[in-house]
Amino acid sequence: MENVVKKIKSEVVENIENFVKLVLSETKTETKKIVVRPIIIKDKLLLQIEKYKKDKVYHENVEVNKILELQFFDYKQILIELKDKNIIFSKKSNRYKQKIQLKEQVNSEINLSHNKQKSYLINEGDDVPALVDLGIFTKEGKIVKSKYDKFKQINRFIEIIDDVFKSIKKDEITILDFGCGKSYLTFLVYYYFVEIRKIKANIIGYDLKSDVVDRCNDIAKTYGYSGLHFFVNDVKKDKLYEGDIDMIISLHACDTATDYALDYAIKRKIPYIFSVPCCQHEINQTLKKGGDFDIMFEDGLIKERFSALLTDAIRVEILRSYGYDVDVIEFVDFAHSPKNIMIRGKLTKSKKSLSKIENLIKKYKFKQKLYELIKNS
Ligand SMILES: C[S@@+](CC[C@H](N)C(=O)[O-])C[C@H]1O[C@@H](n2cnc3c(N)ncnc32)[C@H](O)[C@@H]1O
Repeated sequence: MENVVKKIKSEVVENIENFVKLVLSETKTETKKIVVRPIIIKDKLLLQIEKYKKDKVYHENVEVNKILELQFFDYKQILIELKDKNIIFSKKSNRYKQKIQLKEQVNSEINLSHNKQKSYLINEGDDVPALVDLGIFTKEGKIVKSKYDKFKQINRFIEIIDDVFKSIKKDEITILDFGCGKSYLTFLVYYYFVEIRKIKANIIGYDLKSDVVDRCNDIAKTYGYSGLHFFVNDVKKDKLYEGDIDMIISLHACDTATDYALDYAIKRKIPYIFSVPCCQHEINQTLKKGGDFDIMFEDGLIKERFSALLTDAIRVEILRSYGYDVDVIEFVDFAHSPKNIMIRGKLTKSKKSLSKIENLIKKYKFKQKLYELIKNS
């Protein structure tokens, strides 16, 4: 224990210009994690201590030497990040072992400003530990190269949510994620509401794969994300959460899984929908020639793209018919994902007829799952 305090005294208190951050984690105490960073307030260098308790984060700005009063021994992992190296203490059998990692590139520019400018809601280097476990960030907070596109997608997704929610005052929110997969988005949406907006969030992710569901539940538990739960459920046939729901989200939920998500929202009059559809085969496989648009079906590639756009147009028309104000947004650049259309809906009005879709189906004889689900209810 003494070696930890001595190190923090020599490397942080007596060498503060070299200090980047301190992270205490892995504990049985109520404060699941503590992060300390230097901060300048009114020209004075202080330390900002961030304490993560249950779903809340508490901040305190203190004099530099107060860092020595933290309860280091309660934490199994202690990371001291300096400009040129990381010093890591890991506790085993009540003793700390020390490891030093030299940084390849010296991190010479550290932003000490209280109101540093951010380009995204979540930036490289931000302390979102679940994203490290999920493999989006490295331990040093850098974006893992192969996950850059995913990072762009999930960040943009929460920015679009933020556009709607930054002006909405709410104490609590309940969200379902259809086809959450590894749940990068689900974790980030949870982080957004709980850590950034300070709103109590209950988020449920559904997926078919039990191994990813188990892993996501483990990660949620590790970080004390008590409002975040994952279930193995087939959204096409299993019974899902039936309490009050504020929002459904889906990101690339395969083929007709998106239709089941939209159907669920329509039937339960869920106020907000943020859905980015994925591959869509149904219309492409069932559509027959029958009218003025037959030239679109001569070539496979054009037919496939036309069918995908028709699928989304029908989904949007159905949502509008059921009282949703809908925007169709190009949610990331095509280079980051070719499946880049987001359907964003807000329930505002009452129901209208589906005659435009009925006329199209009479002519072209295709099947479309959301239309079937709605018509057969
Ligand atoms: C392409 S992944 C997207 C995962 C995640 N939303 C993301 O964007 O990283 C689609 C996920 O939907 C899940 N899925 C497909 N059909 C489903 C169904 N009927 N019920 C639940 N999950 C489903 C798959 O298991 C898969 O994990």
